[in-house]
Amino acid sequence: MYNQATVQSPATIANIVCGFDVLGLALETPFDEITLRMVEGPSSITIQNEDEFNLPTQPEHNVMGAALLALLNTLDVTYSCHIVSRKAIRPGSGAGSSAASAAGIVYAANAILNQKFNTNELIEFAKHGEFLASGSRHADNIAPAILGGVALIHSNQPLDIVSLPYPELYIALVHPQIEVKTSDARAIIKQQISLKAAVNHWAHVAALVAGFATKDSALISRALQDDVIEPVRKLLIPHFDLVKSKSLEAGALGGGISGSGPSIFMFCEHLTTAQKVAESMQSIYNKHGIPALTYTTPIAKHGVRLTHLQ
Ligand code: HSE
Repeated sequence: MYNQATVQSPATIANIVCGFDVLGLALETPFDEITLRMVEGPSSITIQNEDEFNLPTQPEHNVMGAALLALLNTLDVTYSCHIVSRKAIRPGSGAGSSAASAAGIVYAANAILNQKFNTNELIEFAKHGEFLASGSRHADNIAPAILGGVALIHSNQPLDIVSLPYPELYIALVHPQIEVKTSDARAIIKQQISLKAAVNHWAHVAALVAGFATKDSALISRALQDDVIEPVRKLLIPHFDLVKSKSLEAGALGGGISGSGPSIFMFCEHLTTAQKVAESMQSIYNKHGIPALTYTTPIAKHGVRLTHLQ
């Protein structure tokens, strides 16, 4: 019998440029840390945030609360739960902050419950948190947050997730310190595209998956194109085109908007290239007086990590 679990839940990059709502990958850094204490007793959830983000503490208004409630509602027994959350992934960054919270809490609960639920069930519970945060139940952050690596959401309903093979790649990520709400970034997307645009787009997705599988960097580079979502969403991100062109000059294979933005990510073959690209990203925002944070990290092989169970 366990009653307390601590997990580290990773940042994720959804879409991976051309795979809107269907592709996502996990990062080694940054990650959130969540401790859940759960004992049989009167049904309750209390939330303690130990970070600077002032997120809501009422369970129904909190991403972790919503995901945990969805899980608890399926049980015959009631639990008194206390959550301590230490977030490092900034909300509204486009690096899967809400997914890290939602995936982390259901993973922790499942550890306490002796692995009662399978991965698909955990993803379904976590989607309740994602829905609260963005008004949409996309799984392209949650699935890689739980599974690690690169995930394909072949179907969201019913859930059909495929863990994809991928080469060793490094990522440079910049987060200009503005907040873009996923719900706003989804609201501006065109609801219809031409057949020609669709054909080009699914060719890019197929090429990207093939490039990952065959570790073909040149193909990955050619496939990282998005003429559907990026042209609209980039308008929300200051200096997007400059960051992208300078990153390519610095040796990146390609990249684009991380999730719904404003973060921008670039794939690189070597850590040293990723560091150069991150420096270039940082200097652009410095020059324009926009505070920005950069990260360089490999794709994480693992998803949420259990660090303590008692
Ligand atoms: N696929 C989602 C979107 C991810 O682009 O809206 C949000 O992080």
